[in-house]
Amino acid sequence: MNPFTIEEQERMPEHVAIIMDGNGRWAQSKGKPRLFGHRNGVENVRSVVNTARELGIPYVTLYAFSQENQSRPVAEKSGLMKLLEEFLKIELKSMVRDGIRLRAIGDLNGLPEFARKIVLQTIEKTKANQDWNLTLALNYGSRQEVLEAIKSISKSENLDPESLEWDDFSQYLQTRDLPDPDLIVRTSGEFRLSNFLLLQAAYAEIFVSPLHWPDFNRNAFIDSIKDYVHRERRFGKTREQVVSLT
Ligand code: IPE
Ligand code: IPE
Ligand code: MG
Repeated sequence: MNPFTIEEQERMPEHVAIIMDGNGRWAQSKGKPRLFGHRNGVENVRSVVNTARELGIPYVTLYAFSQENQSRPVAEKSGLMKLLEEFLKIELKSMVRDGIRLRAIGDLNGLPEFARKIVLQTIEKTKANQDWNLTLALNYGSRQEVLEAIKSISKSENLDPESLEWDDFSQYLQTRDLPDPDLIVRTSGEFRLSNFLLLQAAYAEIFVSPLHWPDFNRNAFIDSIKDYVHRERRFGKTREQVVSLT
């Protein structure tokens, strides 16, 4: 049964971006190594992705590894990359079956060769899929993304900087194929963006859950969407203007 009323369904977000935080603390609270938390975090990705598909949210973006995460211990990084490889290997079949298109944002050149390879292969094998959109932020940093965009723009010859509009600029970002996120969810109770989609999030609603990512289950995800559908997004207008439009 759909947990949303018809009115609520009309206000569903198109794009939810999730900062999956707290795997390490979740594991540590159980006296386990951090990688145990990451492993359980991957299991939770499956559950949240399935819920988003079921609810008809067409775009989900997951912050899986930041450029700043490169400064973590080598063993944790390689464990995460192996989990990524395993996840994509297992999920390819269902992504093809369910029409899921995988995209990645971030500097893939900074991933180990085996991880980059499987990411690129999965992107290639799912690129014709049109039913649902999963984007992984891998070795991603928003500032770095913006800097790369500016470098590309400054090299393009037939562009007049004076006439540059936001819609032109955003085509140079790695998210060019994605709508802006409507909702950013962060788990583990941290109220920060940690270099995630800083410009794209200009008008995103933000939801912070106290739960660590492996505990952020189907019901917790549904609660975050319930919260979102009852918010009033004004985009700079007055409340009266927004209400008269709906
Ligand atoms: C999120 O969990 C996963 C990644 C950043 C890769 P953390 O590993 O950040 O877990 P905490 O925040 O240390 O608990
Ligand atoms: C953000 O989490 C990055 C990911 C979830 C991949 P972090 O755990 O790296 O963020 P900070 O360091 O607490 O800001
Ligand atoms: Mg963290």
